[in-house]
Amino acid sequence: MKKLYERGKLVVSPVLSRYFPEFEVKKGSGCYLFGTDNKKYLDFSAGIAVCSTGHCHARVVAAAKKQLGNLIHICIGVANYDSYITLAEKLNKIVPIKNAQFFFCQSGSEAVEAAIKLARYSTKKPGLVALKGSFHGRTFGALSLTTSKMKYRDGYEPLVPNVYIAEPDLTVIEGILKNNEIAGLIFEPILGEGGYVPYPPEFILGLRQLTEKYGVLLIADEIQSGMGRTGKWFVLEHFDVTPDILCISKALASGFPLGAIAASAELMSRWSPGSHGGTFGGNPVCCAAAIATVDVMQKEKLLQNARQLGSYSKKKLAQLQKKHPIIKDIRGLGLMIGIDFKDSAAARKIIDLCLQNGLVIIPTGADGTVIRFIPPLIVKKQQIDQALKIFELALKNV
Ligand SMILES: Cc1ncc(COP(=O)(O)O)c(C=O)c1O
Repeated sequence: MKKLYERGKLVVSPVLSRYFPEFEVKKGSGCYLFGTDNKKYLDFSAGIAVCSTGHCHARVVAAAKKQLGNLIHICIGVANYDSYITLAEKLNKIVPIKNAQFFFCQSGSEAVEAAIKLARYSTKKPGLVALKGSFHGRTFGALSLTTSKMKYRDGYEPLVPNVYIAEPDLTVIEGILKNNEIAGLIFEPILGEGGYVPYPPEFILGLRQLTEKYGVLLIADEIQSGMGRTGKWFVLEHFDVTPDILCISKALASGFPLGAIAASAELMSRWSPGSHGGTFGGNPVCCAAAIATVDVMQKEKLLQNARQLGSYSKKKLAQLQKKHPIIKDIRGLGLMIGIDFKDSAAARKIIDLCLQNGLVIIPTGADGTVIRFIPPLIVKKQQIDQALKIFELALKNV
């Protein structure tokens, strides 16, 4: 039998970059992946910060199956259906925006597109500000805001006009907001693809103050950092900051493709019917899976688990750093932890050694020098210990 990788070479576009071109899986369950090599892997990539409830959580599977038997698709433009409305009601209770309303789409990039369209449409201003080193997605609007790797933009210009890429410096940002007609400023409270870099709380508070001062909408891209990963539903809650628009996706539906933006009913009321939409956004099955995801997060106290095991992991990693000074920095909140080696070859070697020994971890950062420590939020202490054992073995052999 030919390997999937070999078959894929003939029929899959080479545009996709792969962390592990030859890695093949046939099943996922909880924190584990099962390879076609019949090996069991601890998955600390969580499908790139998506599978917070683990792979194929029984409640999520049951909710999706039930929905599949009832209604797969109708389009919210054609008829109201329960899972769309119920999900919006549920999210309304957890987002850090009062009296929030929701627009659902299929992905993170599309949530960013929706956010910037709402910003321009509602303010009637053209300008958008994004911070240098951020990742907001790959569709043209989102790509125009993305600078985590310049490779993402190469070959695609001209991008969307009136986009200002600002150094993350409040004085520089104030200059841009003061001198231009800016609709919205978008930022990730913790840089995801940019290397798991949290901004200092004063900077985030400063962004809120400046955007208020200049009548600019503050758009929080919590696509990677949100839905409980840092121990609160959203990072901005750690700092008591309310965004004007919140972008959500990734972990929202445990792996079903779903994105969302939240904004106050007042702001949403300025978005006229028909000025945005889509065929599949808020698909019934995806929404049912998202409802089950929120229920699991609450019933199994996964935010608490993220906080407790996040501090436990950081403590253990700090001990490892003492023994292995090849680790240069450990940072993050909850179970969104970056381990920075400041050396891409070393990080790469460690990732490969970990995979050989049954641990899936993936890199991030412009040069791939950072390893993400992002297990599913259902992870247990003993699985963290197991992962750290494999990780230390790799550290010893690098
Ligand atoms: C912060 C952030 N924004 C936007 C996106 C784009 O999401 P998607 O890949 O679903 O389009 C990502 C994906 O990694 C992300 O991390």
